Amino acid sequence: MSHVIAVPDPSLILLIGAAGSGKSTFARTHFKPVEIISSDFCRALVCNKEADQSATLDAFDVLRLIVRKRLRRGLLTVVDATNVQLKARRRLLPFAVQCEVPAIAIVFDVAEEVCLARNQSRPERQVRAEVVREQMEDLKRARPLLAREGFSAVHVFADATQSDSAVISRSAHPWRLE
Ligand code: CTP
Ligand code: MG
Repeated sequence: MSHVIAVPDPSLILLIGAAGSGKSTFARTHFKPVEIISSDFCRALVCNKEADQSATLDAFDVLRLIVRKRLRRGLLTVVDATNVQLKARRRLLPFAVQCEVPAIAIVFDVAEEVCLARNQSRPERQVRAEVVREQMEDLKRARPLLAREGFSAVHVFADATQSDSAVISRSAHPWRLE
């Protein structure tokens, strides 16, 4: 049976998962390009190269700026970054609170071997195996915390087939209703 994910519109959606877990593929399938703010794209905006890790701080400044501006306008926004570190999520969730929109977590708990294999087979950008491993560790630590971080809902894909067959059910959220 497919996993149905209720998505209030507007909302802040955090995709959470290691490199190669399928976040960008999922985002492209279910959301409009302008709704997806990815750390790779923000990196490319500030330094031309999607994979240049030296631009990470500037890229995330840009990412947060865009996310905040979109949420202030009541626009659904998907953050396509690993979001496996608590500090990354803590810098995004307050925007949802400030803008009075729900925050939804979508977790890609895909096996490390799958992430590594997908990483190796993609031509455009490969993340080192030890980095993927660290991200998997961060994700393991994050799993029990997520329920208490302030998300309205936490959805977890336990394997790659679940994210492939998921269905998004979008519905209008009474944004800033008194
Ligand atoms: N892929 C796949 N089947 C899926 C999802 C992804 O074969 N169900 C492939 C994609 O085509 C891509 C690779 O796996 O070549 C990585 O997927 P991607 O969505 O880019 O993973 P991300 O989680 O976005 O990785 P990153 O954090 O590095 O951006
Ligand atoms: Mg990606």
